[in-house]
Order: sequence, then structure tokens, then C-alpha cells
Amino acid sequence: MTQSEIQQISSSHRTPFYLYDMDVLDKTISELKKTVSVNPKFRIHYAMKACYESPVLHKIQRAGFGIDAVSGGEILKAIDHGFKPSQIIFAGVGKTDEEINLALDLQIGCFNVESLPELEVISQLASQKDVKAHIALRVNPEIDAHTHHYITTGLAENKFGINLCQLDEAIAKSLSSPNIDLVGLHFHIGSQITIVEPFVLLCQKINAIVAQLFERGINLESIDLGGGFGIEYDDTSKNEIAQLSHFFSTINRYLDTSHIQEVIFEPGRAIVGVCGHLISRILFVKEGVQRTFVILDAGMTELIRPALYGARHPIRNITGDLRKDAPRQVDIVGPVCESSDCFGCDYVIANPKRGDIVSIDSAGAYGHVMASHYNARQLFPSVFYSQGKEILPSCH
Ligand code: LLP
Repeated sequence: MTQSEIQQISSSHRTPFYLYDMDVLDKTISELKKTVSVNPKFRIHYAMKACYESPVLHKIQRAGFGIDAVSGGEILKAIDHGFKPSQIIFAGVGKTDEEINLALDLQIGCFNVESLPELEVISQLASQKDVKAHIALRVNPEIDAHTHHYITTGLAENKFGINLCQLDEAIAKSLSSPNIDLVGLHFHIGSQITIVEPFVLLCQKINAIVAQLFERGINLESIDLGGGFGIEYDDTSKNEIAQLSHFFSTINRYLDTSHIQEVIFEPGRAIVGVCGHLISRILFVKEGVQRTFVILDAGMTELIRPALYGARHPIRNITGDLRKDAPRQVDIVGPVCESSDCFGCDYVIANPKRGDIVSIDSAGAYGHVMASHYNARQLFPSVFYSQGKEILPSCH
């Protein structure tokens, strides 16, 4: 999407708003389909926690991908958007009885089970209904994903997954429960992983576990490697869409799939990250003693990633760029009454002026979905854009 298109769209919408470039989403999806075809056993289940805007879910459904859901709300949203229950995987460390019952009634594809007590409860609830729950055991493989500690999940002390030392017990319990059908193992080592090495280690661990089980006569249908494929946040001009082929070709090289029928991946960010922009307006340019603060009408209430993880998104002054103003070094902050409401220091953007439109890029994943109403801030709209025009605007 060009800068003048962004400028033009913002003239007819109150800022801040999320702007989704659906053409970029289309390209990402078709590139991902091509990349995944490296192995006919590879399947995608979109981690809808990253973004569940309706037009986005519709495109993902039409692409034939399944869903990775983490709540009853996400399961119902997936069903509303045309996904079949069999295409839904239900993950999460804290599933309520109500959510488990919902998933059992719908006969979803698989529960990713994260602990022994959860296994017991699913087994009891399935037995009360006289149904069989398909499950995969989420294993904590104790691999460092080398990412932010808030989004690393595969280390021994994480709350996620069953520890390797408890795996045998969990497998034995699954196999002896008449209402449990153990179909596979699930792994997810973290998010925004930008190097392939943790996935190589993961493949090696999985190969060893699967081979051991196979020797004991336990044949698994599927292995789920989770999501976590990182995108480029630094220089978005380099790649228009997420580059994933190195991840999938590496996994294809290292993972032994001879005893497995299906290999599942749960990417979220890599599918929707790049297509979303948070569009905001400059309220004030405040000259401090040593620093210049650009105060936006968007803040941590619209995009919490910088405040929560110190994430740094690319930011452009669209209006200033169009005016061809010389760049200035500034700190970019939001309006919320918290010091952490800061998008980052020392951004170099075209000379900022009150009223200029700013685009915070690569905000499609974990942006809108993590928004809050703190400070009783007004709800913001989402705008969807494709082939030079706006489609299906919706208000949230
Ligand atoms: N599968 C499981 C089990 C997960 O926990 C997650 C993300 C995914 C798949 C998708 O991961 P992705 O491909 O999007 O990296 N709010 C944080 C990210 C939290 C990720 C939580 N789990 C952020 O803004 O960076």
C-alpha cells in the first residue's frame, strides 16, 4: 500500500485505527501454501490468537488452513467463520470445564493437553458424555528459543506443557483411559523466533521421542511443532511478506516423518503480522530539554507490544514523507497515563508536525487482539483495504 493511499484512507477515518492490507495477506497465504508443500504431510493450523478480525479469518478459512484455538470464545469464532470442528485444535494451560464440554460436544479435532490433571478432567468429562476425546500431549522439550522471556515457552520452568520426565506417565494414562484417544504430541517453544537452530534441536528431540515410542509399539498419527516463526520488525522495506521457507525446509530436512502421518504447524504472527498497520495522528510535538517527544493519539491501549515486551515496530511519518521533510530524531509516545506508554526512543522520521499521519507497521499480529479500554479510551475501528479500495469496514 502506498503512502498516499494510507494518507487518503486516513482522511475518511477517525484515528487511531487498524488498517489491514488484504493483498499482502493474500500474498502471504499463497506463499505459505507453496512453502509448506515442501512436504505433503505438513499442515497449517492458524493460531487465531494473533488476530481474529472477520475478513482475516474468512481468508484463512478459504485457504484451507485449520485453527489453533485457546479458548471457548476462539472455538466459537472459528465455527462462526466456517471452520469445521474437525479442523480445530484446542490448546491452553487453563481450559475450564465449560470449554472442555463445548469442545467435546462439537467433537473438535484435537485437545492439546498441557498437564496430568487436565488429562484426568478431559477423560472424566468425555466419559460422562460417553464420547472419545482426541488428544495430543503438549511436551515441554526444554529448548531455549532465544526470544523475549515473556514469549519463550519451551524451557523447563515454564508453565506450559508436560515435562519430559512426566511424559511416560501421561502416555500410560492416555492409553489406559477408555475415553481418550492419543493421536499425537505437541510442542511450541516460543514466539518471534528468528533463527532456525531451536527448530533443529526441536526436530532432534522429537525424532528421539517418536523413535522410542515406536519401539514400544506406540504409533502416533501426528506431531505438532507449534508456531513461533518470527517476522522482520527492523527493516520492513527488505521483505514485503514474512519469509518462512528456510524454517520449513530446515524442518523438512531434520524431522523424521517416516512413522508420522501428519506434521502440524501453528503460525500466527507470520501470517498476519506484516499486513496490519496501526494508523495514528500526531497530537503534539513537545520539545523537552534534551529530547523531542512526538505524542500520538494511539498508545499502549491500541498496541501494547512496545510497553509489554519492549518491542520496536517500524514507524513512518506518512504526511511528512509525502511533504519530503528532512528527518528528525524523536521519541514516540502515546497519550495514556503510564510512562511505559512509549513506542520507542530515537526514531528517525520525517519532520513531525501536529496533525501528521503516522503508520506503525507490522502490527497485524497481537495488536488489535491485545487492545484494552484503559483510561476509558474510545473504541477504535478496523479498516480493510484491497485492490485500491476499502472493503468490509467494521467497528469493534
Ligand atoms: N501455538 C501456541 C501453542 C502458542 O502459544 C502460540 C503463541 C502460537 C502457536 C503462535 O505463535 P506465533 O506463530 O504467533 O509466534 N503476544 C506476544 C506473542 C505471544 C504468543 C503466544 N503464543 C507478542 O506480541 O509478541
